[in-house]
Amino acid sequence: MLSGRSAVVTGGAQGIGLAIARALVAQGARVVIGDLNEAVARQAVEDLGGDSFARFSLCDVRDGAMVERLLDTAEEAFGPVDIFVNNAGLTRDATLRKMSEEDFDAVVDVHLKGTWNGVRAAAARMRERKAGSIVNISSMAGKVGNIGQTNYSAAKAGIVGLTKAAAKELAYRGIRVNAVQPGFIATPMTETMPEHVKQQKMAEIPMNRVGTAAEVANVVVFLASDMSSYMTGAVLEVAGGRFM
Ligand code: NAI
Repeated sequence: MLSGRSAVVTGGAQGIGLAIARALVAQGARVVIGDLNEAVARQAVEDLGGDSFARFSLCDVRDGAMVERLLDTAEEAFGPVDIFVNNAGLTRDATLRKMSEEDFDAVVDVHLKGTWNGVRAAAARMRERKAGSIVNISSMAGKVGNIGQTNYSAAKAGIVGLTKAAAKELAYRGIRVNAVQPGFIATPMTETMPEHVKQQKMAEIPMNRVGTAAEVANVVVFLASDMSSYMTGAVLEVAGGRFM
């Protein structure tokens, strides 16, 4: 489905990002991972089949210049970028009473500013070729809001607004911008969650199980591919029916 396409995945060293990279490669694309964690990302490149299939570029998505270098790396390795996935993220959970300003800024910076950096830089290059697909990873937290996640919920809702505004701006240049809202997915990010919180979330999921990173990745592949050629500004939920 993606034979010959050049793709970038931020935060692709592990978890959902790595699953997305794996699914893109499986469909014939070549992927550059932009991540802060060099050791884990280099291992990911090996897992993806080595240099002919994937590359790594050290990137902090908060830094616009590093995002430009990430795109340069992808263009040099695999040609002009067709697919850009804004996936990098982190959590700093605390209730409003306990959350520090630093916790708020850190989460909003990585998710919202980071996604804006990615959309802006990728779109600037894609517009010259009048083609491209940008996929932003939001979260169900951005739809319903989660206790202890005022920072994360705000950033993830912000990604929805950013996705729709960018989709409107870029449609006439042949660039599509869509978002995915995963629910409760088994990854290193959710591994450390307290057991009672996990149980509470499970009770809300009609399908009665956590999702896998591969199940999110499949939807990203769909949005990245020509299968979704008449979709832009869409927000697809991958949540086992939770908060439908
Ligand atoms: P993870 O913690 O396993 O992986 C996140 C990756 O992002 C790591 O490789 C990390 O090094 C990288 N990263 C963090 N800050 C970065 C920065 N400033 N610049 C570049 N890379 C950076 O997380 P997971 O679970 O794979 O999450 C991936 C995305 O999916 C995130 O945006 C997350 O918010 C979202 N998501 C996850 C859900 C879940 O249940 N796991 C549910 C909904 C959304």
